[in-house]
Amino acid sequence: MPPVRVLTVEGATVTFGGRRVLDGVSFSVEAGEFVGLIGANGAGKTTLFRVVLGLLKPSAGTVRHLGRRVGYVPQKVAIEPDAPLRARDLVALGLDGERFGVRLPSRSRRERVDRMLEAVGAAAFADARVGTLSGGEQQRVLIAHALVGQPSLLVMDEPLANLDIKSGHEIVELVARLAVEQDLAVLLSAHEMNAILPHMDRVVYLAEGRAVSGTTGEVIRSDVLSELYRYPVKVLDVDGTVVVVGGHDVKVR
Ligand SMILES: Nc1ncnc2c1ncn2[C@@H]1O[C@H](COP(=O)(O)OP(=O)(O)OP(=O)(O)O)[C@@H](O)[C@H]1O
Ligand SMILES: [Mg+2]
Repeated sequence: MPPVRVLTVEGATVTFGGRRVLDGVSFSVEAGEFVGLIGANGAGKTTLFRVVLGLLKPSAGTVRHLGRRVGYVPQKVAIEPDAPLRARDLVALGLDGERFGVRLPSRSRRERVDRMLEAVGAAAFADARVGTLSGGEQQRVLIAHALVGQPSLLVMDEPLANLDIKSGHEIVELVARLAVEQDLAVLLSAHEMNAILPHMDRVVYLAEGRAVSGTTGEVIRSDVLSELYRYPVKVLDVDGTVVVVGGHDVKVR
């Protein structure tokens, strides 16, 4: 059976004030796959996600979804400590397709929320106000919020940016495990790929508005990235850690 593509992006182009932030970006995500979207600050990762989520219409190109629904963990969420929103309330909102409103939770709704909080390791702070939780704790609750509606694709925008190495590791392990358990494809952005390297089935590397995608072995190479950057860069392996360095004195093989 051919693999099911839950997401296909073809030729996505976005221009802001005359500047092409995305220039014909194409890639796809297959069912159950863990795909890393790698790019430096300002490379266009969040912009690409907004296109994928239908929040931003590209000036050219198409986005096709095939699957149940898309869960989204945004890069920035600001919730006041005083906001009367408990972790379990935020997760329950994910059941309602993002619609706000007062609804008495039925027993099955409550069970699903409890199961999800448990699955992401957030049961201990289920009744705490979201705005009082630490960054790592909020991240878990946001993942539960995104997953409780049982999407086939989870889009996560830099979920590791504000976490320490250990918490980042835990979140990556958690998402990779949930992906297998829930038949979920994951598209996760990061500016640093090492934390997700062991779990990435494929990588989409974004630079200069363009993207190359493939397995890490196909993409994370000096020649491929130099061509993408249109600038000599070198991929080094330092004791199993990938380092991408650039400069005119770099000799590309
Ligand atoms: N609505 C907008 N109007 C004008 N310019 C924008 C808009 N949104 C993004 N940009 C610009 O597009 C570029 C890409 O931004 P984007 O937020 O997609 O980058 P990113 O890869 O997510 O970066 P980071 O790693 O810092 O989150 C940036 O130069 C940004 O200033
Ligand atoms: Mg961003």
